[in-house]
Amino acid sequence: MPRKLAAGNWKMNGCSPDLTEARRLREACPDPSVGVLICPPATLLSRLSDLLQDSPIATGGQDCHANGNGAHTGDIAAGMLADAGAAFVILGHSERRTDHAESNDTVRAKAEAAIAARLTTIICVGETKAEREAGDTLKVIAAQLAGSLPDGVTAENTVIAYEPVWAIGTGLVPTIDEIDETHEFIRTHLDARFESDTGEEISLLYGGSVKGSNAAEIFAVEHVNGALVGGASLKCDDFLPIIRALEAS
Ligand code: PGA
Repeated sequence: MPRKLAAGNWKMNGCSPDLTEARRLREACPDPSVGVLICPPATLLSRLSDLLQDSPIATGGQDCHANGNGAHTGDIAAGMLADAGAAFVILGHSERRTDHAESNDTVRAKAEAAIAARLTTIICVGETKAEREAGDTLKVIAAQLAGSLPDGVTAENTVIAYEPVWAIGTGLVPTIDEIDETHEFIRTHLDARFESDTGEEISLLYGGSVKGSNAAEIFAVEHVNGALVGGASLKCDDFLPIIRALEAS
């Protein structure tokens, strides 16, 4: 997996006609020099994976259950995502933490299941506006990292996404200094916890209102290795400039 990653999170958006956007991206970007990923809604995962087979664009799920199978109506096991062609899964997104009351323990259990199913996890952390205003950003992120990351983390099976909750879908973006401070803090935390070069090599994404117009300056931050992109990943014309900016960084 290339360390630089442009990851699209379609969230609860997309039906069959929207596969055209992925087809266009595949044609416009046949040979990216960075990792490119689309995480569609579960209903499109299998078809999108088929469509992108033999292309460098990977697919992923947006969540998984901690168990391998069983009586969990509406849930999807990590192995099922892999069976549908996924190579990645987003875990602990703030919308899951809020809408489904996911705790750090829940996220860690899911991450263990995903790693066992040979998926690369993208584990999300980030503070709310109130937490930032209270000066608690780094404390919150330290607790989320400590609680959400299993011990088996390696640079191959895990990516971390820093997504300030107040920047998601709002058009608001932290200052470059704030992104720099948080990413450096995350890198230091990972270095301290994991052996050898894991902390140094693990890919760190920024997420929250990333667009073609702000991507280059965000990617210039030292410990930013890519982006987790929501709204701007839905259309090829919006996602492509972000991929190009990452290639140029
Ligand atoms: P956004 O979402 O790019 O629409 O702000 C990012 C995310 O939630 O991953």
